[in-house]
Amino acid sequence: MKNITKAIIPAAGFGTRFLPATKAVPKEMLPIVDIPTIQYIVEEAVNSGIRDILIVTSSYKTCIENHFDQSYELECKLLEKQDEEHYQMMERIASMANIFAVRQKHPRGLGHAILCGEAFIQNEPFAVLLGDDVVVNKEKGAIAQLMEAAYAYEGSVVGVQRVADAAVHKYGIVAPKEQMSERIVKLATMVEKPSLAHAPSNMAVLGRYVLEPEIFAYLKNQPPGAGNEIQLTDAIARLAQDKNVYACDFEGTRYDVGDKLGFLQAQIDFALGREDLHDAMAEIIRNTHKKLS
Ligand code: G1P
Repeated sequence: MKNITKAIIPAAGFGTRFLPATKAVPKEMLPIVDIPTIQYIVEEAVNSGIRDILIVTSSYKTCIENHFDQSYELECKLLEKQDEEHYQMMERIASMANIFAVRQKHPRGLGHAILCGEAFIQNEPFAVLLGDDVVVNKEKGAIAQLMEAAYAYEGSVVGVQRVADAAVHKYGIVAPKEQMSERIVKLATMVEKPSLAHAPSNMAVLGRYVLEPEIFAYLKNQPPGAGNEIQLTDAIARLAQDKNVYACDFEGTRYDVGDKLGFLQAQIDFALGREDLHDAMAEIIRNTHKKLS
């Protein structure tokens, strides 16, 4: 398999679950502590060796591109004030990756958003990272684990973790065909947002994919599926009929930051994980606990 050097991050959604916060601010720019969620996603891709990242956006999302651009005025001010720490921080964000953007002109679903990246990807395998799923893993990022599996087994790979029965209807669920190793299975098929009764397993795709470029041919003639949207899951299920597709049960703690409680849990855990905030945050939690008991 060719080297994976490109990623697509779909970020065109309206973020209706976070209204009114997302009326004028893209949900991808909502911070976990003080870093926009999309920066964690870009960093995960960059840490896996990916440099070229296409963000699929919509009309009011130019601030995402601004975030990863140079900001001369701000940087000059920081230099004037001799604020070396923030200056270095801004420099790092602006130089971490080559960020490209394309508009998804009609909200036709995730599969359609990925299809908007065809000209950027050309004929290479590529990564897809969804912004609602932030994954923390000390050793190796989720997408890096999928990339290893893609190289080892020469096929597309979706990232999965087991979810509670009550949650299967929210995800793409995989039907395994053959266990390849402890964490890798070959797929029979995939189903988008099945009811529990129709779910082939409780292994849910959690926002990470490595796809071979053949996926575009399937996306092009993919009829709308669940929610009347062109589903990436449906196109991958068809790809799996013709080529090997695998699921990698990736290691790491995953936060559903597209959900209010998942977002709040991430705030707490990320603050506790920070040296500068840990002690004060722990104190806040202890005091809150006392108030509740
Ligand atoms: C999308 C995908 C779904 C996947 C999920 C992961 O759904 O369609 O297959 O399991 O992301 O977060 P969405 O959450 O956009 O409805």
